[in-house]
Amino acid sequence: MRAVVFTAEGQLSLEERPKPTPGYKEILIETAAVGICGTDTHVFDGEFEGTVFPLVPGHEATGTIVALGDGVNSGVFDFKVGDHVAINPSTTCGECEFCLNGHQNLCRFWNGLGVVASDGASQEYFTAPAGNVYKLKPETDLYQAALIEPLACAIRGWDVLPRRIGDHVLVYGAGTMGLLMAQLATRAGAASVSIVDLNPDRLAVAEECGIELRYTSADDADREKWDVVIDCTGNLRAIEDALTRVKPAGFFQDFGVAPADGTAKFSPFRVYRDEISIVGTMAVLNSFGRAVEMFEAGAINAEAMISHSFILDDYEEALELFRRGSGRKLQIRPNDTESRVLIP
Ligand SMILES: NC(=O)c1ccc[n+]([C@@H]2O[C@H](COP(=O)([O-])OP(=O)(O)OC[C@H]3O[C@@H](n4cnc5c(N)ncnc54)[C@H](O)[C@@H]3O)[C@@H](O)[C@H]2O)c1
Ligand SMILES: [Zn+2]
Ligand SMILES: [Zn+2]
Repeated sequence: MRAVVFTAEGQLSLEERPKPTPGYKEILIETAAVGICGTDTHVFDGEFEGTVFPLVPGHEATGTIVALGDGVNSGVFDFKVGDHVAINPSTTCGECEFCLNGHQNLCRFWNGLGVVASDGASQEYFTAPAGNVYKLKPETDLYQAALIEPLACAIRGWDVLPRRIGDHVLVYGAGTMGLLMAQLATRAGAASVSIVDLNPDRLAVAEECGIELRYTSADDADREKWDVVIDCTGNLRAIEDALTRVKPAGFFQDFGVAPADGTAKFSPFRVYRDEISIVGTMAVLNSFGRAVEMFEAGAINAEAMISHSFILDDYEEALELFRRGSGRKLQIRPNDTESRVLIP
């Protein structure tokens, strides 16, 4: 079988490898789709903490079960060959202070499939621990369902925000994550959802996803302050601007991943005087199962969010397109026969 391998920082190759065999309580999956996101570029560039090369990238995956390792169905699981599944890529040690206190996403030995030290899904077949595998309904679109992993991150984001009916919510960035946070805002009871992006093409996608108020600058909005302001850009200037837009008693969420050594200016006086809360959110915590349910209930417009699919041969092209900010969500489909433009 074929696999994309990040062989070293900034280097990749397409390799022929033996099909993996599932170990104890592991499942072998034929890959349907795997989304590309900023994490993949960080891993490729050697900027992700702890990555061990060589590594097969890809952590936003779905597929079909082709084999079960020993012991998979001896406990709570009920998997069979042919099941359609989505995969939670996070594995944790279960022993450190953070695991033991219910913050497994902050595990000191956190390992993401395709991110740290275990191979991911940019290959024809991959294995995952049974506890990370989530069964999908047979009628669920397996390609679109690769959005379940980012949706699980977005649900975690909302878990640490207030969900008060009637709040006004402002999201910076209409990429995959901003669009998911904004679509969930409606579900969380927002009275209005505004979204800001410098790129008008991205705002057009937001419109397709039902986000009513869209701006290239928050200055153009008909309100000055919002109850909840969420940064989904990771851009320091956007974060600085976003912090000034929070209403007294409101929340700012740092969802985007800023450069590790970046610093942003804000007014500590205002944080004190107006009781502003600043909250972070990191990946998935107890939110993957809910993401499966929300996705299958149609909580997001997945069709509008995925613009391109690539075969393994075109992985590098996909990474380049992502870096240019072109298209919408880009996917790798390792078992497809050709790369496709789904939305021009
Ligand atoms: N916290 C988490 O758990 C988590 C999970 C996944 C992704 N992320 C992070 O979320 C961020 C967004 O991810 P994505 O996949 O949507 O990325 P993306 O690149 O697709 O989208 C970012 C959007 O922000 C816009 N943008 C950039 N600078 C801006 C500015 N100054 N003002 C307004 N808009 C601006 C871009 O035009 C783009 O549309 C990234 O930083 C990513 O690393 C965080
Ligand atoms: Zn991702
Ligand atoms: Zn741990």
